[in-house]
Amino acid sequence: MSRPRIVVTRRLPEAVEARLAETFDAALNPTDDPMSAESLAEAMRSADGLLPAVSDRIDAALIATPGRRVQIVANFAVGVNNIDLDAARAAGLVVTNTPGVLTDATADLAIALTLAATRRMTETEAVLRRGAWDGFRPTGYLGMGLQGRTLGIVGMGRIGQATARRAALGFGMKIAYFNRSPVGPFDFPAEALPSVEAVMAAADVVSLHIPGGEGNRGLISAAMIAAMKPTAYLVNTARGDVLDEIALAEALAAGRIAGAGLDVYAEEPAVPAALLAAPNLTLLPHIGSATLETRTAMGMLATDNLVAHFAGRPLPARVV
Ligand code: 8YV
Repeated sequence: MSRPRIVVTRRLPEAVEARLAETFDAALNPTDDPMSAESLAEAMRSADGLLPAVSDRIDAALIATPGRRVQIVANFAVGVNNIDLDAARAAGLVVTNTPGVLTDATADLAIALTLAATRRMTETEAVLRRGAWDGFRPTGYLGMGLQGRTLGIVGMGRIGQATARRAALGFGMKIAYFNRSPVGPFDFPAEALPSVEAVMAAADVVSLHIPGGEGNRGLISAAMIAAMKPTAYLVNTARGDVLDEIALAEALAAGRIAGAGLDVYAEEPAVPAALLAAPNLTLLPHIGSATLETRTAMGMLATDNLVAHFAGRPLPARVV
């Protein structure tokens, strides 16, 4: 039997591309240019499997491509909000993701953004870089210490728990969280609160760990941000669409919260001008899982999903 043809939409770490080329008739993307909707449709017609990234929209129209040959979409991400799952389900298209392997890298970045925000790193580095630092002052650039402060986790899944563990055991923070379904017990102290709003109000730092897409779009609204303490900070390493970005920019500009750190945006790669202009805000370009080890492990898991599918074995990480 000839080897299944797999279209890989973006460049992947070397070891992953080598394995894909060895295992499949793999069409790699050496230039790493994002594929157009037309070339994705062509891939749907000509390949047996697709390995896309979050930058590819796998919407209902693409899934309904006449003459579709692709049987499986092995997403290079744990998040699957770039894929219309209902349309995939209806069309009998298999969808897989890469859970688990990026938990630590993303939790590390949530802590990095927490420190960047509370220790004013972006703001103070900018002062130094423009030559405006006039020397040490005992009262200069004071931030907030984390010890004994409350970290509010919205979404206590794998990454929420890993972030909470780091904060509790590494930084001596108290943990308050909201999760839609009961979770725990954990190997660190944590208090479940009855609502997202209760977490927003209780926390000194709020960290978001909920999936993007329909159910959570705009959940962290202007009203939710208004529930935060004026001394509190907001961190988002989940998905941009869960947050009202303009409301956040306004709250920062008006000093209604103390600061924030974002790694994700609703319309990536576009970042609203209001956010670019907002004070006390660290902005990163969606690098939550961006370590060589993690991106390699993600690619290997996406490949494992493809291998299992074409061998007729149970899939390691099936979503649909
Ligand atoms: C990925 C992510 O790097 O896995 C996810 O859901 O957000 C990131 O880890 C990105 O989605 C690449 O496709």
